[in-house]
Amino acid sequence: MATINDNYLKLKAGYLFPEIARRVNTFAEANPDAKVIRLGIGDVTEPLPEACRTAMIKAVEEMGVREGFKGYGPEQGYAWLRDAIAQNDFQSRGCNIDASEIFISDGSKCDNGNILDIFGNNNKIAVTDPVYPVYVDTNVMAGHTGDANEAGEYGGLVYLPVTAENNFTAQIPTEKVDLIYLCFPNNPTGATATKEHLQEWVKYAKANGAIIFFDAAYEAFISDPSLPHSIYEIEGARDCAIEFRSFSKNAGFTGTRCALTVVPKTLTGKAADGSDVELWKLWNRRQSTKFNGVSYIIQRGAEAVYSDAGKAQTKALVSFYMENAKIIRERLTAASIQVYGGVNAPYVWLKTPNNLSSWDFFDKLLNTVNVVGTPGSGFGAAGEGYFRISAFNSRENVEEAMRRITEKFKV
Ligand code: MLT
Repeated sequence: MATINDNYLKLKAGYLFPEIARRVNTFAEANPDAKVIRLGIGDVTEPLPEACRTAMIKAVEEMGVREGFKGYGPEQGYAWLRDAIAQNDFQSRGCNIDASEIFISDGSKCDNGNILDIFGNNNKIAVTDPVYPVYVDTNVMAGHTGDANEAGEYGGLVYLPVTAENNFTAQIPTEKVDLIYLCFPNNPTGATATKEHLQEWVKYAKANGAIIFFDAAYEAFISDPSLPHSIYEIEGARDCAIEFRSFSKNAGFTGTRCALTVVPKTLTGKAADGSDVELWKLWNRRQSTKFNGVSYIIQRGAEAVYSDAGKAQTKALVSFYMENAKIIRERLTAASIQVYGGVNAPYVWLKTPNNLSSWDFFDKLLNTVNVVGTPGSGFGAAGEGYFRISAFNSRENVEEAMRRITEKFKV
């Protein structure tokens, strides 16, 4: 009889977003006339930028003739895309990142989970609480966490609470950890990190031989010029950080799929025999064994993000969603709901009114005003009493959702 990976049995019931979808579908089936507005999952709604579409169409045509046809591409991604990324996203901001250190992939979620393949099983792992659930669940699946307690916390993880009391900024741990997940601008709280704060993390990581997994999927939403977009803007980060980025949110690629991971060649980890091993080599080995690259057509679409037209169009998309975030913040504040985030991030994090629990507020919003958000407790125990509203939707839906919520919850 085949046995299973028992670690899967340690996972909490369902992945957060499918669980929300399940509840919403049950509601919609029972209430077929309700016009449900979904501000839960951070999925984009606006069309792909024209520059990307044009580049993809051209790439399809190329594939239609023998001279232009492409079979398997390089597992690491085409050099022209990696060059464009290195120049525009990193070197132009003073980050010493080379195109050869960039790996193109089909998503940050996948990379965030897959990266664990190249690390050992005895690392001490720190996550913020609340946190993007993928970081926790992939460690549970890999057997790094042990069982969950009643609050849903895993004994094997070090949780760093982020709440209004500490201004949503995690304390640097006093104990020694080996792997640290950081996400800025933050999902779910919308908080940002200053250069000084990241410098403290880099200092800690270097002093402890730790690796930081820096998720910068939302960097395009930063408008404050003093805030860093990449961890490599911080001195020393090349020696202790892997960065994840995505075309999903800035260029609307959630359905198209393209992302990237940066593994500097200066990064090392310890082998069992005590020797230092280059992480780049391991990740390259992992990707070339388990991954065959992103489609040529999609990589051409991603490259177009860096054309003049692409830059203008993605900027307009980001501004559109950030105007939604502003509307959400303003309307909820006017209804005396305490909001956070939503200024340099597409998520607004709010304190649930009347001390409702996160799931009670979720049910109340769904049942009374037919609006879907994400319960804060779904991101971790310290998210209890909070709620996330995503700014990714049409203007009409955002306006309508805010009208319904503020009418219902006005105090
Ligand atoms: C979210 O809603 O948190 C996002 O959908 C996360 C993701 O991009 O996977």
